[in-house]
Amino acid sequence: MPEQTSPPVPADPALADSAFLRAARGEEPSHTPVWFMRQAGRSLPEYRALREGVGMLESCMRPELVVEITLQPVRRYGVDAAIFFSDIVLPLKAVGVDLDIKPGIGPVVASPVRTMADVEAIPDLTPDHVDFVTESVRQLVAELGSTPLIGFAGAPFTVASYLVEGGPSKEHAKTKALMFGAPDVWDALMRKIAGIAAAYLEVQVAAGASAVQLFDSWAGALTPTDYEQFVMPHSARVLERAGALGVPRIHFGVGTGELLGRMAEAGADVVGIDWRVPLADGIARARGRAVQGNLDPTLVFAPTEVMLARAAEVLEAGRAAPGHVFNLGHGVIPSTDPDQLARLTDFVHEQSAR
Ligand code: CP3
Repeated sequence: MPEQTSPPVPADPALADSAFLRAARGEEPSHTPVWFMRQAGRSLPEYRALREGVGMLESCMRPELVVEITLQPVRRYGVDAAIFFSDIVLPLKAVGVDLDIKPGIGPVVASPVRTMADVEAIPDLTPDHVDFVTESVRQLVAELGSTPLIGFAGAPFTVASYLVEGGPSKEHAKTKALMFGAPDVWDALMRKIAGIAAAYLEVQVAAGASAVQLFDSWAGALTPTDYEQFVMPHSARVLERAGALGVPRIHFGVGTGELLGRMAEAGADVVGIDWRVPLADGIARARGRAVQGNLDPTLVFAPTEVMLARAAEVLEAGRAAPGHVFNLGHGVIPSTDPDQLARLTDFVHEQSAR
């Protein structure tokens, strides 16, 4: 396993000292930083207006849209970090895989990957494939000033699930059938995706992103031993290459309570905890790493005082961690009222000011 290294400090002192980067490095921040997974997107009327008549993947390839959509939640909420507006399947699209993101469904792949020949037909990613990403990140970093930009990639298992199933899946049955039944094809596929993910993160950090998150959203479908055998070495390779870039690495999945120790060991600086795991337990399983999370994303639909009382509990539990980045336990649900997220952001800032 790669050794854990301390990420270096960015050149801009205000950025380096931002609450988000301090917490991610396990240092004392001025307040507990907060951002929300899927903070950009359909919950915001200004996003829906901008996306009118523009396909999801097309919007990811147009720097002026990427910049504006990424900045929208930062302006609206004053969150402590921006997340780059893109999607986990974007790098596959960029290398030429025939796929689309269908509204209300998610990523759909025209010819699912099942054989060694299918895997070998997927090109490796070079920076030229994603020059629009370099352009978008550069512009964003200039606009964001001392607010950090989080780059991201999909982890090999989660991306493999879309490629093998051909679309979203609850059971991941075809994916696991390949994993159990054709280990050589599986290994080649995971290596291919890991290489693409690492190269994609390298592009984002080279252009100025100051942290990265590896999304293994569906890893919770695996038993700990299957995760360790079939998935963890590949995620570890991505995280190792990201670690060489010297930025903090967040490793997140959903339903991963039993996997958190291994996800930490795969090479995370910050372990993302979903809302099903009591944060205190997540902190213990993160083995000395900083943590991110983990308010139940449905609590925004509760009365404000109920939501804030639960947020206070999360903040309190987070004090036991070497660093705590406040977030929801998964992405913002599209029907979320943005005013609730504004109240939540203000509350986290006020409640945690040191
Ligand atoms: O604000 C942000 O978090 C940044 C943007 C972002 C998107 N997708 C934009 C998006 C990020 C970080 C992702 C990651 C992503 N994409 C994940 C991992 C995170 C997670 O939610 O677990 C996964 C599994 C995907 C695959 C994917 N893409 C799904 C499941 C969907 C939703 C399908 C739907 O319509 O409900 C997408 C589409 C997508 N990606 C949207 C957005 C804003 C919605 C499409 C639209 O606005 O038209």
